[in-house]
Amino acid sequence: MDIFKRRDFLKGAGAVILGQTFLSKGIQAGEPEIDLFKTINRVSDTDNLSALEKKHAPTIAIPGYIKANQVFFLTVEVGKTLHVMTPNHWIMWIEVYLGNSLISRTEFSPLIPQPSVTVPLSVGGPTVLKVMQRCNLHGLWESTANITPM
Ligand SMILES: [Fe+2]
Repeated sequence: MDIFKRRDFLKGAGAVILGQTFLSKGIQAGEPEIDLFKTINRVSDTDNLSALEKKHAPTIAIPGYIKANQVFFLTVEVGKTLHVMTPNHWIMWIEVYLGNSLISRTEFSPLIPQPSVTVPLSVGGPTVLKVMQRCNLHGLWESTANITPM
């Protein structure tokens, strides 16, 4: 890449980052003004979700009964109110972690009709499941669940 193309690329990348920063502020009327791109966002009060939390916190669905070392299926959707998938606003990816180990990453284009994924899992003992997702306008969001096999 010659120096001029590289400079144009870097200018464009800066514009995207600035655009996301400005868009992330005050996007929901009535929401506190926070920079969603400076942190990993999590639900603060599970009994009183904000509009952003309803649309962005990953929902984790696992069977009520899990047997140690037996395969079960985890389903993740983005948002209690399913997040939109449009060319200007979409979920870019979903990652699944067992403890701190990444075990699955699914990339999405805006053409995917809904942000959801199902992953086969098996655990030998109590494990913390962590799910992360990235919205192009509203940053990183994380949800966790404790898995306790019988
Ligand atoms: Fe979003």
